[in-house]
Amino acid sequence: MDRNATPSDRPRRLRGRVLLAGALGALGVISAVTVSVPAGAAESTLGAAAAQSGRYFGTAISTSRLGDSQYTTIANREFNMVTAENEMKIDATEPNQNQFNFTQGDRVYNWAVQNGKRVRGHTLAWHNQQPNWMRNLSGSALRQAMINHINGVMSHYKGKIYAWDVVNEAFDDGNGGRRDSNLQRTGNDWIEVAFRTARAADPDAKLCYNDYNIDNWSWAKTQGVYNMVRDFKSRGVPIDCVGLQSHFNSQSAYNSNYRTTISSFAALGVDVQITELDIQGGSAQTYANVVNDCLAVPRCTGITVWGVRDSDSWLGASTSPLLFDSNGNKKAAYTSVLNALNAATPNTSPSPTPPVSPSPNTSPSPTPPVSPSPGTSPLPGGCSATIRTVNSWPGGFQSEVTVQAGSSSVSGWTVNWSWSGSQSITQLWGGLTSGSGSSVTVRNESWNGSIAAGASTTFGFTANGSAATPTLTCTRA
Ligand code: G3I
Repeated sequence: MDRNATPSDRPRRLRGRVLLAGALGALGVISAVTVSVPAGAAESTLGAAAAQSGRYFGTAISTSRLGDSQYTTIANREFNMVTAENEMKIDATEPNQNQFNFTQGDRVYNWAVQNGKRVRGHTLAWHNQQPNWMRNLSGSALRQAMINHINGVMSHYKGKIYAWDVVNEAFDDGNGGRRDSNLQRTGNDWIEVAFRTARAADPDAKLCYNDYNIDNWSWAKTQGVYNMVRDFKSRGVPIDCVGLQSHFNSQSAYNSNYRTTISSFAALGVDVQITELDIQGGSAQTYANVVNDCLAVPRCTGITVWGVRDSDSWLGASTSPLLFDSNGNKKAAYTSVLNALNAATPNTSPSPTPPVSPSPNTSPSPTPPVSPSPGTSPLPGGCSATIRTVNSWPGGFQSEVTVQAGSSSVSGWTVNWSWSGSQSITQLWGGLTSGSGSSVTVRNESWNGSIAAGASTTFGFTANGSAATPTLTCTRA
């Protein structure tokens, strides 16, 4: 975006849940019972608070700050999703045509996953931050270069990215039409070609259209993007999410119709992610409003703020746009966001598809696992795997699998199971899946294969069909 153009009861509650689960387990009824999460259970970090309703809370990370321990301490503590602020953009990843460079992108990616966070990819096709060689292309040569770039970057990060901003900022600010750019001049179909290319390159990544000034439902630009997404869904162009950048300032102010914007996009059958949130002036009330609007829509799956401290913001510290001040102190806006996240009720948790609230007896339960699988593999020297249902909705469900090392450490693991019904996985994270038909195999990612003795890791997935807790087998590599 052109800056000038746009505007202390937690332990008691958790202990209570653990005791309840333990008591139910002792009675032998645990797998048949689902425990509701009390609304308002207080978590002390943004990521953990958002996770209570199945959402993430992320930040943009810059490699230029990774040597700053105050920055990394806050970022690691508070956030569970990471976007590279500049390092995965076109000029960074393909500085010379056909010469890809992932040095900086990988630094952000590795920092994230080594600290247990997921990663949003930003961004593959954009009129801005193009390297000189791309700026000088046009027509079919540029179209082919765009396709080649998407393939090159997505294959490097294949299976590792939660969601890609496939196309960024393609709409004009004024009239709801397309922005003029070298990409637009290759033909109006460039956006759908980008999305089809992206789906083929990494079928596991969610594919997002990302833009600014599409937050206000009454603005022509919002309507233009809405109409494009509706058209894509009606014609089967693969799109999974819309990113509302949500850079709010006096020219582009938060409006109470923001919730309408989020729910309207969601009703088209896409997730909505708030991807680059900052609010000039840092109003605590506006931050709370944004969070509450997301929490009100099941398919609003997460929020990312565009930087950690005010001094890290692209807008400059004096605009006070973020949640931590330049000394790393929590601001009033931080507290209002945390409180709003902690007040989320289970029935506002995101559901991948369709946009319906989960029934009360399938409320997500952040911890501990309440429906372990009936059978687990033996632990000593090996590993075990247990499955729990996180969420379910008509025709689908979300599960989490915990893989635990036995009496010795594990350097790699494989989990197998068979579905007894007609379930099929639609998306999986924290593991690599293979298998066919009813038989499923999930092995570790490169970053979560090593588990210390007695420690554990998790992977998760969404699936079509009825929620199930099959018997899992865990094998160490
Ligand atoms: O790293 C160089 C440095 O070596 C050099 O001395 C300096 C001189 O200007 O430039 C530095 O690079 C700057 C880079 O940020 C890192 O700080 C670039 O000039 C500057 O253009 C770049 O700005 C980024 C901007 O995107 C570019 O479009 C911002 O950091 C980044 O926050 C911003 O992010 C965008 C999203 O990608 C899309 N949505 C809007 C958002 C805000 O503009």
